[in-house]
Amino acid sequence: MRDRIKKKSSQKEKIFLTQSYFKYPLPEEMLKELSEELKDINRYPSGGEYTKLRQVLAEYVGVKMENILPTNGSDEVIEIVSRAYKGEVLIPIPTFSQYEVSADRGGLSKILVNCLIDGVYSFNYSAQQLDKASLVWICNPNNPTGTRIPQENIINILQRAKGMVVVDECNYEYLGETVVDLIDKYENLIISRSFSKNFGLAGLRLGFAISNPQNIKRLATFGQYFRVNRIAEKAATKVLKYLDYYRKAWEKIKKVRDKFIREINELGFSAYNSQANFVLIEFKNKEETERVWKHLKEKDIYTLPGWENEFSGLDDQFIRFTIGEEWEMDRVVKVLSDYVKKNQKPI
Ligand SMILES: Cc1ncc(COP(=O)(O)O)c(C=O)c1O
Repeated sequence: MRDRIKKKSSQKEKIFLTQSYFKYPLPEEMLKELSEELKDINRYPSGGEYTKLRQVLAEYVGVKMENILPTNGSDEVIEIVSRAYKGEVLIPIPTFSQYEVSADRGGLSKILVNCLIDGVYSFNYSAQQLDKASLVWICNPNNPTGTRIPQENIINILQRAKGMVVVDECNYEYLGETVVDLIDKYENLIISRSFSKNFGLAGLRLGFAISNPQNIKRLATFGQYFRVNRIAEKAATKVLKYLDYYRKAWEKIKKVRDKFIREINELGFSAYNSQANFVLIEFKNKEETERVWKHLKEKDIYTLPGWENEFSGLDDQFIRFTIGEEWEMDRVVKVLSDYVKKNQKPI
């Protein structure tokens, strides 16, 4: 891994920190094994039951196969639950935009609840809202703020909500906390996971839902029979053989992230504390944000500003940075440090 990082850093290549995918090299042996599956793509995936895949995922999570529904990326969990629990959906903004997009497609009515007040993201669904909603979203850690939602807050919502509560844990591997242990206790709990952010399979599309067997059976009726393609199906077993490799990469990413947050704040910017593989920075106003975003772009650093459609309810004075390799984040800090020097004032 180190050799490749060195080579890249000397090339002054473009740095893409827009989409929050896994930016580290994948284990070469794993890629080789996966490429051998190509010869069988004339055959269908295992289909509806996906027995082997579900067993592998269940073992990874620590549940039974009956608790697992594999999907075409975790975006498909969002899509399927929006079909299955029609009515009114509660969305805690600012957050990931697909909750809204799937709700619109499914004809659900949306209640966007502002949860970011004075720089603090915390849940404030009212009793009345929780009484009425058919579907309630919790993104943990939240995208784009990176905020950890404490388990007691999730339990509080599970106990008060009349409808289904979905906890999006697509960044679980960075946070290290889950509510999987609650699926037998709370019938109204579904958890969503992904192989995109943590195992580097964003391009293959593999995600899954975790819930009690009744909910899983019902959810399956709202998706296609062949939800997961044959290569993605095989990939889960293969990447999970390399857990030690990935665990080291997650630790490295978390270290690089925490260093980035520290250095950014030392420059006088306001970076949010993050438990995911991205960091949100808040600027004074839209004009300042545009200036910084353009300055980064001129230096071949591409980031995700609040005015893009990636998030629901994110204002224009924010930019989200995906955590890349260390040399990439060091370059971002250097470019922002030059920006501060040039402008001679803290942001
Ligand atoms: C919070 C959140 N949930 C779900 C997804 C969807 O991920 P995927 O469909 O690649 O599993 C994303 C991707 O950006 C995300 O940020």
